[in-house]
Amino acid sequence: MYSLQDIRKDFPILSRKVYNHPLVYLDNGATTQKPKQVVEAMVDEYYNVNANVHRGVHFLSQQATELHESSREAVRAFINARSSSEILFTRGTTESINLLAFTFGEAFIHADDEIIVSTMEHHSNIVPWQMMCQRKGAILRVIPMTNLGTLDLDAYQQLFSDKTKLVCCTHVSNVLGTINPVGQIVRIAHQHNVPVLIDGAQSVPHMPVDVQALDCDFFAFSGHKVYGPTGVGVLYGKENWLDRLPPYQGGGEMIQNVSFEKTTYNTLPYKFEAGTPDYVATHALAIALDYVSALGMEQIFQHEQQLTRYALDQLQQIEGMTIFGHASHSTSDLAASMPSQGSTSAAFGHETLCSSDAVISFLVQKDGHYIHPLDLGTLLDRLGIAVRTGHHCAEPLMNRLGIPGTVRASFGLYNTVDEVDALVDGIRRVIQMF
Ligand code: ALA
Repeated sequence: MYSLQDIRKDFPILSRKVYNHPLVYLDNGATTQKPKQVVEAMVDEYYNVNANVHRGVHFLSQQATELHESSREAVRAFINARSSSEILFTRGTTESINLLAFTFGEAFIHADDEIIVSTMEHHSNIVPWQMMCQRKGAILRVIPMTNLGTLDLDAYQQLFSDKTKLVCCTHVSNVLGTINPVGQIVRIAHQHNVPVLIDGAQSVPHMPVDVQALDCDFFAFSGHKVYGPTGVGVLYGKENWLDRLPPYQGGGEMIQNVSFEKTTYNTLPYKFEAGTPDYVATHALAIALDYVSALGMEQIFQHEQQLTRYALDQLQQIEGMTIFGHASHSTSDLAASMPSQGSTSAAFGHETLCSSDAVISFLVQKDGHYIHPLDLGTLLDRLGIAVRTGHHCAEPLMNRLGIPGTVRASFGLYNTVDEVDALVDGIRRVIQMF
């Protein structure tokens, strides 16, 4: 039973006021709020368990290690990886992609090789590849976007050459909410024997993800966007790829033996985890994943889809409103990005699903001019409504849209229809002020 009233009690911050208004938190694409269970797990671990992991024979170290390693297993189960040694803990999606860009570049990229990214990537899935291309003399190729805000898959197929070494693509756009058909994107790449990295930062919090069903070679996401703590994230990689990649950072934990003459490296996943990990955060991430799993990722998806559809209907009635991204996803597109169990098709049925996965980007015109997104966001904030404004770390996408930025409302599992109404009402009030 999906009870918003009960769920919201788990998130104390949702009851606070901002400028004397009840907080309406619609910036979940940037970060999500934390349930008590997550915060209490962190406090408890610092108060009662704290010790460094993998390094001590003593009781506390063993206990902390057990929590840390069972968290790796929790992540494995959550995204259905084959083995927990395919789960690398990082500081977040950004570090996961930087890790891969460095190490994959060292192992496999030579001058004139090509990496494919898409127009709708976050900067964190562009800049690390640009840096790697600069280091190696390689070239970035870009999948264009249609006017509907979907990736142009015909153009994508044309980008492959015998120089293509990797495809890097976001699962869900952090600006448009477009759910990309990543299953299909992976299949096409594999026909060319090219591996694929999926940036799951904006999908993991909103829908079931099964990396084996997707068959992606690498998958990255952040803890803090899925109701977990900041400073922890995941890079999933198929074992046969990770085994062939050199380490990222050197230090403790990632070695087998060290001498001044020669150092040998640890097995997976530790080869990529130099230094003391944030073991309190990894445990808290597992608690967050337990929390969303108990609610059910399919239920969360359904709730957020309903909310997004309702918000789109309401926002479209505002005069001067432009909403960016109108992709209409068929069930089969979505099915390609979802696990293939029977429960999925039953849960998602045959209805046409909303294109926006819990993210709506918009601008509003008054007297023939767009109200600047920063002004709109600042005035909404004064009404207690938290949205994000600007380019959303996706400047190439903004250039493609021909705008400097948008206002973005992004929903989480705890948002309500009343909060959508507050947003719509707030926008109308702001328009009147201009
Ligand atoms: N990547 C985060 C966002 O889209 C910060 O807001």
